[in-house]
Amino acid sequence: MKKQYDFRKMSFYQIWIRSFCDGNGDGIGDLYGVYDKLEYIKKLGVDGIWFSPIYPSPNADYGYDISDYKNIHPDYGTLEQFKKVLDRAHELGLKVLLDLVINHTSDEHPWFIESCKGGKDNPYSDYYIWREPRFKGEEKLPPNNWYSQFEGIAWEYNEQREQYYLHVFAKKQPDLNMDNPKVREEVKSIMRFWLDMGVDGFREDVINFISKNSDMPDGWSFVPAINGLPFYKDGPNLHKYLEEFRQVAREYGAVQIGEAPFTSVKTALTYIGGRKRVLDMLIQFDTMFADCFMTEYIYHGFRLRKLKSAFRRWQYGLQGKAWFALYLENHDHPRVVSRYGNLRWWKESGSMLAACYILQRGTPFLYQGQELGMTNIALNSIDKYIDVAAKNAYNTFFLKDSVERRLERIHVSTRDSARTPVQWTDGKNAGFTTGKPWFYVNPNYSFINAEAEDRDPHSILNFYRRCLALRKHSRTLLFGTYREYFPQSSKIFMYERKYTDKANGLEERILVVCSFDAHDRSYRMPRGYNYKKGRLILDNYISEEEMKAGKTAQPCALKPYEVQVWKFRKKL
Ligand code: NOJ
Repeated sequence: MKKQYDFRKMSFYQIWIRSFCDGNGDGIGDLYGVYDKLEYIKKLGVDGIWFSPIYPSPNADYGYDISDYKNIHPDYGTLEQFKKVLDRAHELGLKVLLDLVINHTSDEHPWFIESCKGGKDNPYSDYYIWREPRFKGEEKLPPNNWYSQFEGIAWEYNEQREQYYLHVFAKKQPDLNMDNPKVREEVKSIMRFWLDMGVDGFREDVINFISKNSDMPDGWSFVPAINGLPFYKDGPNLHKYLEEFRQVAREYGAVQIGEAPFTSVKTALTYIGGRKRVLDMLIQFDTMFADCFMTEYIYHGFRLRKLKSAFRRWQYGLQGKAWFALYLENHDHPRVVSRYGNLRWWKESGSMLAACYILQRGTPFLYQGQELGMTNIALNSIDKYIDVAAKNAYNTFFLKDSVERRLERIHVSTRDSARTPVQWTDGKNAGFTTGKPWFYVNPNYSFINAEAEDRDPHSILNFYRRCLALRKHSRTLLFGTYREYFPQSSKIFMYERKYTDKANGLEERILVVCSFDAHDRSYRMPRGYNYKKGRLILDNYISEEEMKAGKTAQPCALKPYEVQVWKFRKKL
């Protein structure tokens, strides 16, 4: 058993490699490009990297359909190159987490190819979830009425085996049968393979789906895409399986972050609460639903109160009990400045959003390009989009709407917006590649790019750096309590972090005040606060230099999308 590192003091940067940086000129991001950008990542002030899948995959779901768990996709490099990246990251003091996708594989994985053959003596027969068809007269029907989250019904008939297999996601992503002990041994062996190489932990994909209810009854027929959810989420053996995987992680002191769609605080606590936790943190989805319910289905525009209530639920619910994973963007969600911010106030809202979540209690995750304020892309035809979920939504839902209206829905919801190449410079292809980029580069790279933002003291990039540095060096921001003020406000999000240092008889409070308004606004500080006794320590309208030179903000007044962070200290 190895002692675990303190992930609570850390922050992570997520790389979706295909669009991160191309190092060999073939138009596709790769590990050579990552190697070149490690210093950039370090300079951001994060402490680790989470790689979305980098394994061989036919890319039906861009890496989340794995065909070989112990190798690197040839588009991205080799195992040797990965090892180089890993070693260099470690030299720079960065931890490296990989994505562990064990709910399903690719249908091109050799296990599935074997499983399709069936047969009692075939060791792979029971690696997946196979069921007999139901019959209506002569007509073959799937075993139940579940929909898949990405593509039609959740069952696909296999002619060779004459049975249906379950796929909660795309057809090319058959679900593994985790009830089979041999499958769990495979998972452990995959974990060991990477941990032995020196990897520091895993982000575990849809981990709350891996244990299925063996009955598999029909779900509510009127709910699209997720009607089987109650029967495959938080299944009967989930704890048991997670405990088995936890044993492996413990041997190496590895950290485990579980992605858990549609989970509640109460359920989350059963996984991440206490010393016997089976996961260290959970990626919930509530904070990504402030403008929608599942972006593809119901889009209602941004509502600050909905975002605040999601933050409140998780912050208060986990306080003193478990640790939170803070994020506003990842490869599954369109760009947050386009969603929760305001493109007319791009720089202000993009930077305010950084402080709004990074200074809360928990470990922050940043997604590539988020630190630059990258925005959504709008393409003029569905054929230009590549994401299986976008195509499914377009071809399945809202068919009565006009093409324009359906495309609008795709613009606000598509995961492709998070997957455009990272904008490094204002040069050709945004400096992402010297070749032909595999996907559309957002034309706004002429002004949204890392090189320009590095030079600009007021940039979103530099503001992210300041937020991360502030958090890293503040016990109050790392470990202080969380308290929200004025929850009813639909324009201001205000919270306090408080730390009592009993040994030195000191109490420190940090008040974070965020405006989500495109107009000037006044506010009052909560009872017990006197701004005259406070010191402004961060503001997105004031650069670091200006702040050092003594520039301050007008207390109790906010410019559009301004964030003010005030510090108060008192002797006890
Ligand atoms: C969650 C991942 O984040 C997403 O990108 C993927 O499509 C699904 N799980 C299926 O693996």
